[in-house]
Amino acid sequence: MKDNRIELADLSFLAFGEKDNLDNLPDQRLAPGVDRKTLPHILAAQKRLENLWAYGTDYCQDTIYVAKEENKLLHLDLDLTGECKLKCFYCDRTPDRYSDVPNRVELTTEERKDIILQAHRLGATTVEFPGAGEPMIDPGFWEIVEYIHSLGMTTVLFTSGYHLDAASVDRLYSLGVTVFLKYNNIDTAVQDRMVGVRGYGMKARNAMNLLLDRGFNKSVPTRLAIDVVVTPKYHDLEDVANLFRWCRDNNVHNYIMTLIPEGMADHKSLLLEKERANDLIEMMRKIDEEEYGLNYSPSRPMGGGYRCRQVNCGLFVNLFGEVYDCNGLARLIGHLRRDSLEEIWCSSYATKIRVPDQNGFCLVRERQWQGRDVSAMNRKTEEYERWRSRNGDDVVVERAKDEVGIGCVELNRKGATIKSKDV
Ligand SMILES: C[S@@+](CC[C@H](N)C(=O)[O-])C[C@H]1O[C@@H](n2cnc3c(N)ncnc32)[C@H](O)[C@@H]1O
Ligand code: SF4
Repeated sequence: MKDNRIELADLSFLAFGEKDNLDNLPDQRLAPGVDRKTLPHILAAQKRLENLWAYGTDYCQDTIYVAKEENKLLHLDLDLTGECKLKCFYCDRTPDRYSDVPNRVELTTEERKDIILQAHRLGATTVEFPGAGEPMIDPGFWEIVEYIHSLGMTTVLFTSGYHLDAASVDRLYSLGVTVFLKYNNIDTAVQDRMVGVRGYGMKARNAMNLLLDRGFNKSVPTRLAIDVVVTPKYHDLEDVANLFRWCRDNNVHNYIMTLIPEGMADHKSLLLEKERANDLIEMMRKIDEEEYGLNYSPSRPMGGGYRCRQVNCGLFVNLFGEVYDCNGLARLIGHLRRDSLEEIWCSSYATKIRVPDQNGFCLVRERQWQGRDVSAMNRKTEEYERWRSRNGDDVVVERAKDEVGIGCVELNRKGATIKSKDV
């Protein structure tokens, strides 16, 4: 992706707000009398909605078409460590962390750098760390981020913010990183309960203030986003609306969404039903239309007009080199201990997967809502098996199944029974 960011020289529309019921939000608020529809980043979004998304993930449909035409991989999702100090009751990544499958060996820093180079040669412009644990505590984290920067690519980092301080914020800024900070709730006590660790909410809030002070939100598209999961237990539409408005005012992109049914969240009781997910999205659409002059048709499960296009232009490599179409672990497509990234990207099954326009559709959530979900591993290969019955083997997927040991992977679900304690 060409660097076509616009710098926001003047952020004077932000000011310290009056004391109000938003006390738990970071300090920057809209100055009185400012028309939200005329904020510079909102004007840019009225022309191109992707201008409100986070830099490095702001793929518009035209970019996707060109990449498809040229068979380019734009976006590499890559796991770093599975270690994490927090105990989120909803974490989808527990199967990787509590793996007791014998032939799973974690990738090394050197191997990860090699995968990044392979992705770069296939056209990738972004390397995203969605996090099997907390990416920032991987021993190779800084070496890898520096390597990505040296190749002229953008790092997109998902972090809890638990390990962020002024020095690391500064270093991330200099290395061109886009940050998605976990920010589930405006109430720091609720944040603590959601991650099972007392004091976390204040740390996340301090991390947000450091990122704002450093200016991560001073470009269009922004380099700052929050990741918010909405669960039945912690679901208050008004709080979500306040957090959403705060994001829009401050040029902070947001993933506000329902849980991916994986790992600890592989339980119906933790998931928002389809109707409530629709209500949530409609609420954000209305705010955008009435208060910001932004018009779009939303696409479940994401609010705010965001449309995931990952499956058309990227793939995901987990801790062990297993390759999936996305980090929701929808479909197994290869294994890097058996095949190169290019062989996987160009295999017949992977090529077929990325033909239909994704444009926001989330397979892992929709199949759960449709009530046709199956066990954790079978769901990753069920579509392939149907395809295979018509088209014959894809040798790349067959080798991946062999390497993963399909029967063994079910063992991982034991990890999903580990519970975090509410504090
Ligand atoms: C898996 S975490 C890894 C990075 C880092 N440890 C963190 O929490 O930000 C990445 C993001 O996914 C979110 N997440 C965790 N479990 C999820 C689930 N079941 N569905 C959707 N998002 C989830 C987290 O809240 C976090 O914002
Ligand atoms: S979602 Fe929570 S438990 Fe999972 S990796 Fe992130 S911080 Fe750790």
